[in-house]
Amino acid sequence: MKEPDIKYLFNPKNVTIIGASHHKEKIGYKILENIVNGGYKGDIYPVNPSGGEINGIKVYKSISELTDELDLVIISVPAKYVVEVVKEIGEKGAKFLAIISSGFSEVGNLKEEREIVRIAKEKGFRILGPNIFGIYSSESSLNATFGPSNITPGGVAIITQSGALGIAMIGKTKVLNMGVSAIISIGNKADITEADLLEYLAYQPITKVIFMYIEGVKNGEKLVEVLKKVTTKKPVVVIKAGKSKRGAMAAASHTGALSGSDEIFSSIMRQCGVIRAESIEEAMEWCRFLASAPMPKNREAVIITNGGGIGVIATDACEKYGIELFSDLKSLREIFGSVVPEFGSFKNPVDITGQATVSAYEKAIEKGAENQDIGAIICLGCETALLKGEELKASIKKVYNRYRDIKPMVFAFFGGEGIEEAILQLRNEGIPVYFDPYTAISCLGSLYKHYTNLNKNREEYKTITSYLERIDIEKIRELIRNALTEKRNFLLPYEAKEVMKQVGIPTPQSLIAKNLKEVIEFSEKIGYPVVMKIVSKDIIHKSDVGGVAVNLENKDEVIEAYEAIMHNVRVRCPEAKIIGVEIAEMVKGGTEIIVGARKDNIFGPVVMFGLGGIYVEIMKDVTFRSFPFDREEGFHMVKEIHSYPILLGVRGEKKKDIYSIVDVILKVGILVKYVDEIIDIEINPLMVFEHGLGCKAIDVRVIIEENPFKER
Ligand code: ACO
Repeated sequence: MKEPDIKYLFNPKNVTIIGASHHKEKIGYKILENIVNGGYKGDIYPVNPSGGEINGIKVYKSISELTDELDLVIISVPAKYVVEVVKEIGEKGAKFLAIISSGFSEVGNLKEEREIVRIAKEKGFRILGPNIFGIYSSESSLNATFGPSNITPGGVAIITQSGALGIAMIGKTKVLNMGVSAIISIGNKADITEADLLEYLAYQPITKVIFMYIEGVKNGEKLVEVLKKVTTKKPVVVIKAGKSKRGAMAAASHTGALSGSDEIFSSIMRQCGVIRAESIEEAMEWCRFLASAPMPKNREAVIITNGGGIGVIATDACEKYGIELFSDLKSLREIFGSVVPEFGSFKNPVDITGQATVSAYEKAIEKGAENQDIGAIICLGCETALLKGEELKASIKKVYNRYRDIKPMVFAFFGGEGIEEAILQLRNEGIPVYFDPYTAISCLGSLYKHYTNLNKNREEYKTITSYLERIDIEKIRELIRNALTEKRNFLLPYEAKEVMKQVGIPTPQSLIAKNLKEVIEFSEKIGYPVVMKIVSKDIIHKSDVGGVAVNLENKDEVIEAYEAIMHNVRVRCPEAKIIGVEIAEMVKGGTEIIVGARKDNIFGPVVMFGLGGIYVEIMKDVTFRSFPFDREEGFHMVKEIHSYPILLGVRGEKKKDIYSIVDVILKVGILVKYVDEIIDIEINPLMVFEHGLGCKAIDVRVIIEENPFKER
């Protein structure tokens, strides 16, 4: 059945409240009251079996009495009645249902939640919730929530998985003087997820910034696809709870969501251009700033200060939040020379010294704001006898209002009561003034993150097509089908090697020897030193059974190793059918890295990269991406790990072939995305050599499944 247009959720012609109560203390009463007081102009249909009136509005005894086509139906009756009510609505027809009731998957009641979704799919309507506090949409002045009644319209859309936090956030928006375009409580996300809402909010003119509180992701692949698009239009700020193991468990019991690995979530959000905040306070400050700041014209900011110390703190903060400082000394002298006293500094931070008055500040800000080479202004100040609250307030207000649409500006002042009062009053007027330079600069940093997204070229399609044109996927699938007919869920080394060959990932030269004569012949052909590995369909972990010997330097060592391997395998795996031994070139001189990919339950194809050995095992220095992505993103991925400088060459070593690593990352991504049966692949180690010399996949593990898309 065709799904209804999501615009009717935000802008319904009518709203029906099932469970609209006559009792003031009940949720069903509160929602109706908020809808009426919020100024909603559409038709309101309260439904309650006792009929009558609530606050002068006619109450219908049953939805069968309603003749209109229903756009939005709010359900506020206990969970045990919800399925029946949904069935009734199914008979009548509706576009959207917002189910307030708790008592579904979050407490293990999956059966009824699934039943509701089943009916919705069958009847062609969509479900928000269950376990929600409702929806506010400024577009239609609709406050169908049981939260605060007085919400200020504005540019921030909030999507929240937590009800209580969401309601509290509404209160906080008031304190921060932050206008809101929509607040949507999504609760258990049985049907409608963030992705559905983002698709609408991305194009809704009133929404300037989207803020999401997420506990667990459902249908991550779709979320990634949508986020990549949305973040090229509007900033998306995310808070994800359940970072720690205990937090993840708490989140699971809160909304019944599986949160998945936080490392994967974090890397993928970065890939999508989402701005991830650590705390709600930080996220809300960012949203408030992002909703009103103009886009910078370039990456370079200038710090204006009356104190060296606070300037240094700000410089550190700029590094932390990725803000570049305008550093052309000649230009800085030209721009600020006339406002910086002799004993001050026109270097960035521009120090107009402790003798700076408010008018000196005004002039310095004017100079910076009117210069085209400066992208943003960070204005800081410490209280002095010359810089007092009242005057400062008037002055900041004046310059801010003059340049607010032209250049991003943030302010932070530090001082006593007068300064704090001035800051509070300026903040109340929506001016981005903060008590601490770090907060100010983190807000500007969030804007620069968005600026980076806007300027990012995504060439996924081009990259993937160019790879797919050169890879014979069908040949790889044939290999896999052979393994599956033998009831194996993994590929043997020579099969995995063939897969590598098909995608063009180099592997060490190797041959399979079936007897001692061949062992010697092939070792000499390949050239010493060589590696020897047992080949058997019954042995996956070759080292564990003494089936591997490395660095064999001559004929005698090869003979000895062959006999030892055969003995070990016969003793430890007497049932195993032995095909022979693989004789391979012993690869030396590279840096060990790991590249892997898997079909993730939440995000679909996910690629992993890290440096091998202790870096991955102890430091957990790995990064992830949702596939597909382009070459540029592949380079970002490689540069993102902490041990990246090792690849650039340390202690006199030369730079490693990073281009070839990115090539392998993309090819491994192609394998999990386009070869249905591959569910997990890991190259460990991938030896990467000096720049220009490429890399070689030493050990390749491929896990397969006949029907990987079946429900796990
Ligand atoms: N059709 C229409 N009305 C009905 C029906 C029906 N089929 N069945 C019952 N009603 C009426 C009742 O008669 C009652 O009206 P009355 O008060 O005038 O007699 C009204 O609907 C409400 O029913 P109650 O049984 O009184 O239920 P109550 O209002 O106490 O609770 C609620 C319902 C709010 C849905 C509750 O079950 C619930 O789930 N509460 C939790 C909500 C929640 O926390 N959501 C999560 C997110 S928000 C957060 O976390 C802060």
